[in-house]
Amino acid sequence: MSGIASSPIDPFAPDFLMDPYPAYEALRALGPAFALERYGVWAMAGYAEVEPALKDWKTFISGEGVGLHGMNPALPKPLTLQIDPPDHDKGRRVLGRTLSPGVARKLRETFQQEAERKVSELIDKGTFDAVTDLAEAYPMKVFPDAIGIRPDGREKLLAWSTFVFDSFGPENEMLATSRKAGLAAQSWIMECCARDALQPDGLGMMIYQAADDGEITEHEATHLVRPFLTAGIDTTVNGIGNTLLALATHPDEYRKLHHKPELARNAFEEGLRYDSPVQTFFRTTSRKVDTSGGVIPAHRKVLLFMASANRDPARWGKPDRFDVERSATGHVGFGAGIHACVGQMIARLEGELIFGELARRVKTIELTAEPRRRLNNSLRGLESMPVRVTAA
Ligand code: HEM
Repeated sequence: MSGIASSPIDPFAPDFLMDPYPAYEALRALGPAFALERYGVWAMAGYAEVEPALKDWKTFISGEGVGLHGMNPALPKPLTLQIDPPDHDKGRRVLGRTLSPGVARKLRETFQQEAERKVSELIDKGTFDAVTDLAEAYPMKVFPDAIGIRPDGREKLLAWSTFVFDSFGPENEMLATSRKAGLAAQSWIMECCARDALQPDGLGMMIYQAADDGEITEHEATHLVRPFLTAGIDTTVNGIGNTLLALATHPDEYRKLHHKPELARNAFEEGLRYDSPVQTFFRTTSRKVDTSGGVIPAHRKVLLFMASANRDPARWGKPDRFDVERSATGHVGFGAGIHACVGQMIARLEGELIFGELARRVKTIELTAEPRRRLNNSLRGLESMPVRVTAA
């Protein structure tokens, strides 16, 4: 492959996904770019390559899909994520306005009340599953409420987004399993995106207002509500779950947070760097790319290991250390450039409020059994994490 280093590693194999960090180190050592023999694709794992590639949307395009396989031409063209400028701009503008810092400020009070209610309930329980009872329960309540989604059937949200994120990888067992549950949830998801199904005062309806103003069509509005449900749930669930695991396994760091709850937003940001919920996304080269490690031809898939860039020692001091006081600014856990996460204000708000409330009210968090992983082709997260908490 064009004089470039190559590796037999399968980054979608279960043993890789259980603990990818040692393999990331080996992949970074291969140089700025390398080939993944098993899939016949190129890849980058260092911060100095991944971050600029995310920003260079003209060379590393998204319009041919951000998964291993190209876009299915029979399906309608997406309006965000897997689309390039100028077509990307319209949907991004509408979503950006809906998910703005001003909107996040308005949501703060209700998100805070729910964080208080949730943490009180968990302190009363004492022992619980930190994945289902907290990392899933909190975002699955506040975020669909904010969009204006009906309360029944919300468990389908996770099945759907797990499938979508699995589908960015190869046809493997994980995808076969999640496809079944995901497709079973699909019609419910689409029903939820319809104008009639949305609460009048939610974020979903703000998208339809853009249709009323003639900025987008009614059909486009439906397809712009859907990314909320695809990209906004599992990602945040795993971001909260992974950060909780890091805090439970680093009691000194939790102590710092407990003594200084105003570190909560920073601790969540560090959690996203340290154990990124979105580990990888693909791009496609629009032209031949010369790297110092060799040439990547035009029209080739390139896997960007964002989670590896977030642990690259060339960018971060002691990258494998979880440090709630670190300045994690610049991490690529939310991507970078024109596709950088449009929901990051909302995700950060959820993280800040739930970890702030825990820090104030909970003195210690400890694991009572080994956590169980939930493997996914793109996401890193947990199935279960039994914990015990003591009240402050
Ligand atoms: C894009 C991660 C929460 C909606 C992205 C990207 C990443 C990401 C890495 C970049 C994709 C790329 O470059 O191809 C995360 C993480 C989250 C989170 C780690 C939580 C901790 C959310 C939320 C929403 C959301 C809450 C919805 C409200 C989106 C959308 C895009 C995106 C629509 C596509 C943006 C575009 O193509 O312009 N996210 N996300 N995300 N995210 Fe998030």
